[in-house]
Amino acid sequence: MRYNQISNTLFITNRSNFCSKMIVNTIAILTSNDVKHNNADDVMGFSQNNDLFYLSGIDQEESILVLYPGAYKKENREILFIKETNAHIKIWDGEKLTKAQASEISGVKRVEWIQDFEMTLQYMAFEADGFYLGHNEYLKRATKDQQTRQDRMISWCKEKYPLHQYLRAAKITRELRQIKSDEEIGLLKKAANISIESFKRVLKVCKPNIKEYELEAELTYNLIKAGAKRHAFQPIVASGKNACALHYNTNDDICNDGDMILMDFGVCYANYNSDTTRCFPVNGKFSARQKEVYSSVLRCLKEGSKLLKPGVISSDYEQQMANLVETELIKLGLLKADEVSKQDPEKPLYKKYFMHGTAHHIGLDVHDVGLYSRPFESGMILTCEPGIYIPEEGIGCRLENDYLITEKGNINLTEAMPIEIEDIEASMNN
Ligand code: GLY
Ligand code: MN
Ligand code: MN
Repeated sequence: MRYNQISNTLFITNRSNFCSKMIVNTIAILTSNDVKHNNADDVMGFSQNNDLFYLSGIDQEESILVLYPGAYKKENREILFIKETNAHIKIWDGEKLTKAQASEISGVKRVEWIQDFEMTLQYMAFEADGFYLGHNEYLKRATKDQQTRQDRMISWCKEKYPLHQYLRAAKITRELRQIKSDEEIGLLKKAANISIESFKRVLKVCKPNIKEYELEAELTYNLIKAGAKRHAFQPIVASGKNACALHYNTNDDICNDGDMILMDFGVCYANYNSDTTRCFPVNGKFSARQKEVYSSVLRCLKEGSKLLKPGVISSDYEQQMANLVETELIKLGLLKADEVSKQDPEKPLYKKYFMHGTAHHIGLDVHDVGLYSRPFESGMILTCEPGIYIPEEGIGCRLENDYLITEKGNINLTEAMPIEIEDIEASMNN
């Protein structure tokens, strides 16, 4: 494990909270993700199902968690099924979890081999009225054709037990995962701190004609060295006009003297993810226009992030941020005040230069699960990420911090990542 083992009290508490929200006499079944294959025998690596991880801490493929809080036999209330290893797996892949290790990590007392899942469930299903099953509930172009292990579990379960009631585990996990415990906050702070240190190193090596991927490499080296598992997502290292493509991540261009770089990156530490964006000049000195645009975005970040506090509703916050950006766009000469005053509210003019949302939860997912209709509460951690993109000037600027909402307002977990123009320039030139 690259990270210090997480105390199993986190997962025991998470399961207890989950079970308290299940309706009577139901069984929850949570499955791990698949190891994804690409070509021949090559695999893309493994990324655990985050609901399963949240409830068990198990970071291994072919795992199933079964919760049946109303089971009349005590030993059936919590069962973890894991892959049974053998000599072949040991030679090729190395050690897998023993039952004792899985029990220690998760705090689940009863651990069985996965081949015993169907038979074990059979006797429990006779007694139960329904099942909670996990599902990603997210359909994007890229995922439409992918059948997941969850999909297969849903099909199998419904075919085998057609007359049971079916319920959404995600309804519960989405609600619970939105509020971070102290332990989770500690892990997210660690991810944020690794991001901060990695970014400082990038500022030191940046110079004209460096390739975007060389900066990505510097980032990767530092975050892996610091114990991160991986980037939270494919980092965006976008110089000049590349920064105006919101999800640019080929990172294969040359950073030209006079251009500004937008770097949006996250650190995955112990499966918890930070998400930050900074912009800096290739040559260590912002041009006058870059300074203007950057200062506008920074004012929006400083002002807008104040709204990340208990009681505020996400849609109000987004609207207020849009108003702030609109004002800055007028100051920058990109929009005309009189045209803005006459604009169609359904098609606001600011969208030409600022076309994305400003806050999302972070946690086990970078765009963490949660209901955006729920007002902000203490314990939520959200990004704030205003931006202004001007392709015709070759400038794209976004600034993004991570904020923990508390009773008293918020705490910027990425406060120590240089953001003031003078601090960025000083770091690059000293
Ligand atoms: N990196 C994706 C985002 O900032 O939301
Ligand atoms: Mn973000
Ligand atoms: Mn980001």
